[in-house]
Amino acid sequence: MSDRSPFETDMLTLTRFVMERGRQAKGTGELTQLLNSMLTAIKAISCAVRKAGIAHISGKGCRFSTVDNPQQIPYQNRCGKHGKYIVCVDPLDGSSNIDCLASIGTIFAIYRKTTETEPCEQDALQPGRTIVAAGYALYGSATLVALSTGQGVDCFMLDPALGEFVLVDKNVRIKKKGKIYSLNEGYAKYFDPAITEYLQNKKFPPDGSAPYSSRYVGSMVADVHRTLVYGGIFMYPANEKSPKGKLRLLYECNPMAFIVEQAGGMATTGSQPVLDVQPESIHQRVPLILGSPEDVQEYLACVKKHQKSS
Ligand code: F6P
Repeated sequence: MSDRSPFETDMLTLTRFVMERGRQAKGTGELTQLLNSMLTAIKAISCAVRKAGIAHISGKGCRFSTVDNPQQIPYQNRCGKHGKYIVCVDPLDGSSNIDCLASIGTIFAIYRKTTETEPCEQDALQPGRTIVAAGYALYGSATLVALSTGQGVDCFMLDPALGEFVLVDKNVRIKKKGKIYSLNEGYAKYFDPAITEYLQNKKFPPDGSAPYSSRYVGSMVADVHRTLVYGGIFMYPANEKSPKGKLRLLYECNPMAFIVEQAGGMATTGSQPVLDVQPESIHQRVPLILGSPEDVQEYLACVKKHQKSS
């Protein structure tokens, strides 16, 4: 049982945080309502994930049914109109990890609709720069939500006794440079020369400094959250077999790029900032390299060097 009382003044719940931000923005309350619905869904997913083993629900059974087309949520605002936002969400990212109890997560980004019609694909095809709010939930040793509404990143931990997310890290800033690189190095055979050289420099630094550590969970939320907290670089680059990488622009790369940029980091495809990519389809994949700014810049310098020599 938590020894904190819900009446302690220094304790800020995510529900209250979202309401206060909404009040400051003098909005209609629609984004506040939407964010609070997301949090309820995240709590429900967290409960399901925590019970999956006991209930003998395998990763396969726990995978949420995928909805490929934009869905109208049965909600009308006070004017009787449909909502003005569109949400791109990966409800259970890394679900192949669930059977071995490794961390998994939920990733989401919220945009203003661009059409006046019912939610449609076009509403979702916006560059990440137009994101209104984005975040992720990590179902790890605890359940945590990292959220940004464009004013930095704040992290909230689920207090199981209260059933509430409580602010634990305000205005998180990523380190300028880390000591960890993170990618699936099993695909090294298919990497391009820039990645290969970058990794070689991490293992055998030319300046004689200590090599980087390698960490890779294979669950994007866990790998990105570690990068946010400890610094370093996370990569899912293009390779010979997957020329666009594996990760999805709309519901994996963009929300994570938004969070990392808001924390002072960088996120690139290798040729442009992830948030500047104009999406062409809702399941589009892009290469992703994100993390501490100096680490990402060092990778980009490798890319530039190899472009010149080719
Ligand atoms: O896209 C789903 C996902 O599980 C991510 O969470 C993770 O980063 C990636 O795939 C792992 O892919 P791979 O098994 O190819 O390293």
